[in-house]
Amino acid sequence: MANIILLGPPGAGKGTQAKRLEEARGMVQLSTGDMLREAKTSGTEVGRRAAEVMERGQLVTDDIVIGLIAERLEKGAPGGFIFDGFPRTLPQADALADLLQVKGQALDAVIEMQVDDTSLVARITGRYTCGNCGAVYHDITHPVKVAGICDVCGSHDLRRRADDNEDALKTRLMEYYKKTSPLIGYYYAKGQLSAVDGLADVEAVADAIAKVLDKA
Ligand code: AP5
Repeated sequence: MANIILLGPPGAGKGTQAKRLEEARGMVQLSTGDMLREAKTSGTEVGRRAAEVMERGQLVTDDIVIGLIAERLEKGAPGGFIFDGFPRTLPQADALADLLQVKGQALDAVIEMQVDDTSLVARITGRYTCGNCGAVYHDITHPVKVAGICDVCGSHDLRRRADDNEDALKTRLMEYYKKTSPLIGYYYAKGQLSAVDGLADVEAVADAIAKVLDKA
């Protein structure tokens, strides 16, 4: 069992790798972005408050996302959790440390996925996902095999995110460099940080992450 953080800017490949780890290692992906989008679809107050902020590319408040994570951690995960898109600020990182400590659990690795900004724009503007199973695709690098149909579950519900456009992405990147990138130093100082080349192909990134996990 291992609890890990996938840390990286929008489009670094966190979601893609988290899904692979779920399949390969029986871990559970905790994506605060997915949780917030689900809250919006369910019409909850949290979802309504978060939706506008997300569309602009800004960060949702710490109390909302920490609350979502705390609730989900209660359910446990025998194979461990993959934190995808959380924490994104120093207060969130402190809150996660406290939540894990209360449960007597450790954070086993923080994996920084390094990708340059030009590649991120190409990845984000070409991305679409399956609204039913969450599979992630890309117009050029990873299209569905049959147009309009998800390879994994056969659903026709293929979607693009409201914040996957160049304007919102600029704000998302700014938020990342201002508020999230300080976490790289935070986890380095704790001796928990490993970096992988997120520009490599999906298999090679998965192999690099597996090596980190096997040592953790
Ligand atoms: P969130 O949903 O977490 O989005 P994000 O961090 O911006 O990350 P993405 O999902 O865009 O990218 P990814 O790294 O998962 O890349 P993916 O694998 O899809 O957050 C959205 C919003 O919610 C935030 O802006 C904020 O408002 C709010 N929020 C969420 N968490 C929050 C928090 N903790 N605090 C406050 N606010 C919060 O890949 C991208 C594309 O690249 C895909 O098309 C994929 O096929 C392709 N690709 C992936 N890997 C490779 C590869 N190795 N080579 C080539 N292509 C690849």
